[in-house]
Amino acid sequence: MSGVFIAGTGMYVPSRVVTNDEMTQFVDTSDEWIVQRTGIRERHFSTGEPNWYMGVQAAKQAVKRAGIDPKEIDVIISCSITPDYFYPTIACTVQDELGADNAFCWNMEAACSGFVYSLDVARGYLSTGSAKNVLIVCSENMSKSLDFTDRSTCVLFGDGAGAAVVQRSEGLYASCMASDGRTGAALLARALPLDTPFSTEKDDPKYAKYMETKGNCMKMDGRAVYRFTAHAIPNMVTGACARAGIDVQDLDLIVPHQANLRIIETAADRLHVPMEKMYVNIDRYANTSCASVPICLAELETAGRLKRGDKVALAGFGGGLTCGAVVFEW
Ligand code: ACO
Repeated sequence: MSGVFIAGTGMYVPSRVVTNDEMTQFVDTSDEWIVQRTGIRERHFSTGEPNWYMGVQAAKQAVKRAGIDPKEIDVIISCSITPDYFYPTIACTVQDELGADNAFCWNMEAACSGFVYSLDVARGYLSTGSAKNVLIVCSENMSKSLDFTDRSTCVLFGDGAGAAVVQRSEGLYASCMASDGRTGAALLARALPLDTPFSTEKDDPKYAKYMETKGNCMKMDGRAVYRFTAHAIPNMVTGACARAGIDVQDLDLIVPHQANLRIIETAADRLHVPMEKMYVNIDRYANTSCASVPICLAELETAGRLKRGDKVALAGFGGGLTCGAVVFEW
């Protein structure tokens, strides 16, 4: 079976940097608490850039680095849990802004696992020959989903976008995905309520009882997510490696979703790999949801840290709850 080649990556973060100290203006917290519990030192927040704009900037860089014409893109997959509009999707707006007239475009919703799930879908298009170039764009304005009076969530997230142009390769590839809908209430954000002249029930009985937050702000049971991820990353990476016929120790680098440094350290411990093999940038961007993994990839490409043939695992986890890993050759 064929694999994937990351032909070009891109990223964009808003220029406004917000330090932990600055967050103490809004909630009772401290730089020390945030660094010790999460590894986060600062994040970027949009001062007005819409989500689609950030996605377009990341996509343009990825296409340029891949050295292709936008008209050569066959599929655009966008991922976002904080879109500007339900429709058109960010994928369609990116198509318009890039002039990628020959692509078909749609949105993937798997929360923070979005890039990993999208890469697996892209690989399907590429392996059947129905696409030669797939553009994945992950973009999040997490700041608009935050309750800036809730210290247990607002310090954890940041805004940003990452993108990748993916092509077929004959290199090694395997994926391992899982979801657990029973734990859905651990991470919630409301969409449109059913509030019409015809609705007699204003609150959805399944999840409304967990929602203390107003409007569309996120609600998180941090400990429940932590418990889930502590197993999810090691299990998914181990599973993908087993399917690829390699040992975890053969991996040159693991790029995990950047949600908490302690989660990444726990995963390294359970996988018996040194922290040098875990890519970490959460200190600078906080948790940018599905954008975190492609932002890491864009930084890796910029730094030239990986060489062709290096074995890389990407691991994502997030709302749903969802998780997954892919193993491929750089
Ligand atoms: N500043 C200061 N104190 C705080 C803050 C804060 N920002 N937030 C919570 N606290 C307090 C709590 O109120 C609590 O106080 P109490 O003991 O008096 O009740 C104390 O700190 C401990 O709170 P815990 O929730 O037990 O802290 P914990 O060590 O579990 O860390 C955290 C919390 C960082 C959220 C952790 O549970 C975590 O990282 N969970 C995973 C979160 C995650 O990965 N989310 C995203 C995944 S999916 C996605 O990316 C969308």
